This record gives sequence, structure tokens and C-alpha cells, in this order.
Amino acid sequence: MARLDVTEVFHGICFPGHLHTQDSLQLALKFPFQDTDILIVSYPKSGTTWMQEIVSLISNKGDPHLSMKVPNWTRSPWLEQYYFAAILEASPSTPRVITTHLPYHLLGPGLHSSKAKVIYVSRNPKDVAVSFYHFHKIANFLPEAGSFPQFLKSFLEGTLSYGSWFDHVKGWTNQPATMNNLLHITYEEMSLDLHGAIKRLSSFLQCPLVEDEVNNCVKHCTFNSMKHNNMVNYTQISPDIIDHNKGSFMRKGKIGDWKNMFSDEQNQYFNSVFKSEMQDCTLQFIWDE
Ligand code: A3P
Repeated sequence: MARLDVTEVFHGICFPGHLHTQDSLQLALKFPFQDTDILIVSYPKSGTTWMQEIVSLISNKGDPHLSMKVPNWTRSPWLEQYYFAAILEASPSTPRVITTHLPYHLLGPGLHSSKAKVIYVSRNPKDVAVSFYHFHKIANFLPEAGSFPQFLKSFLEGTLSYGSWFDHVKGWTNQPATMNNLLHITYEEMSLDLHGAIKRLSSFLQCPLVEDEVNNCVKHCTFNSMKHNNMVNYTQISPDIIDHNKGSFMRKGKIGDWKNMFSDEQNQYFNSVFKSEMQDCTLQFIWDE
């Protein structure tokens, strides 16, 4: 199958050109957010799809009707994609739920004057790197994955699509003064206590839920539920774009899968880069279940 991996370089960061153009990226930076908008922000493979589903279920008080009928990219469209405006128009959500992988230094300035609620999802970067590596194998719009050692080097150097994980996480989580509508939540927190994470999110979104509604949200956004829901597992996407013959989008959904992939040497190398990049950052990650 022919690959669609044209790269678009925007402000020094590589983006998949099949999905994003200079114009669509530029428009994203100027997007007129409304105070009622909910923005889901993440570095790729950090639990974005999971958060899209959680927010959708919370907004619908745990009723899975829309989750089962409308694709997640219509319910919470991608800000930087070239067909964003059309999908946003078709979006059934009120408030609007918008998703982005853009780094803070690009998108933050455009958000300053808005009271839109921002949910930033992060995940321990070893698992992000492994998940992203497998995703490169099935996503034809991304460059060839190559070997894992090469891929890991590019991840740590910040040269993969969507740029540096370190800049992304530090950028979005170091903004307490300017971004008081921002909630930072981790993949690991959702994984270890989904019920608690949903309650925390519903409170942030000012969408109170009774216990049964929280339980319904949990039921419909477990890994297994989502793996079997065609509206979120990306099996409805053309195989030209995501080739499910090569692997699943909903792959493992675990904390600590990096241990199956990293050699001791790679782990040491990763730890030393992590230490130096994150020296001014107090964030703590859970690396293992
Ligand atoms: P793995 O490749 O480690 O399985 P994103 O949506 O940001 O692209 O992230 C995709 C990752 O989130 C994949 O990780 C996917 O399996 C995982 N994921 C998606 N839904 C999940 C869920 N309900 N529970 C746990 N992990 C989930």
C-alpha cells in the first residue's frame, strides 16, 4: 500500500502533511475559541482517544448513545486538521469539544483571552514512545517506523511528528498563572482509578453526575468497551490511512509496556535524557503498574 507520509514542517515541527497543511495549522493558531469550549490537549499516544470518549460520556451523563453512533473525530474534531471546519459544523456537541496535539508555545497565545476549559493529558514517556512506535507501523500518514533504537533516538531528540515530548509536557503544565482553566490529568491516573478520574473531570467540566451515571461512563470507556466500539477504535478509517491488518489502534492499553521493548542500555540512555530535560520540572510519572 502506498504511504501518505508527506511531512509538513511548521514553526520547525514536523506534522503529517496528509492531515495538516500550512493553512490548516495557521488557522488553528488563530481559532476563535469560545468560553464554553472544551479543549483536549495531548502529545500523541498519551490517551487522547480515551479522553475524547470520557468527555463525550460525561457530557451525555453516561448515556453511550452518541458514542455508539457518531465517530469520535466528529464528536471532538481535531483543531489542526485541514477538514476541521466542516467536521466542527457537523459536530453534535454542545459545548464544543475540540482536540489538539499542538504544543503550548504555538497554541497558548491564542487561548489566553478565552475561558475555554483545557484538559491536558500526559502519559509516562516510555510508554508513549512504545505506543507511538507501534502506531507508526499501522499509520500510513506517518513516516516508516524503522528500528526501535532509531525511533527511540528520534523520540528523545524531538524530531518525530508533533515535536518534542519534553517541550510539549513542560509547555502545557508550566502555565499555572495564565491558564487557570487547565486540568492536567495522566493516563496512569485514569488507568489506576477510572472512576475517580471521571469524577474529577466531571467536576472540572461543571457537569455533575450521580453515581449511576459515573458507573455508566466507566462501563463504556474501559479498554475493552472502546476496543469493540467502531466509533472510537479507528477501524472505520480507510486502510490507506490506518492499516489494521498490521496492528490495532487499541493495542494494549497498559502501564509499563515499555519494559517489553526497552533494553537495559536503552533504559539508561532514556533516564539520562529524561533527567536532564526535566531537571526544572516537578512532574512525577508512574512507570509501572
Ligand atoms: P497502547 O498503544 O499502549 O495500547 P492516543 O489516543 O493518544 O493516540 O493514545 C492511544 C493509546 O491509548 C494506545 O496505547 C491505546 O491502546 C490507549 N487507550 C485508548 N483507550 C484506552 C482505554 N480505554 N484504556 C486504556 N488505554 C487506552
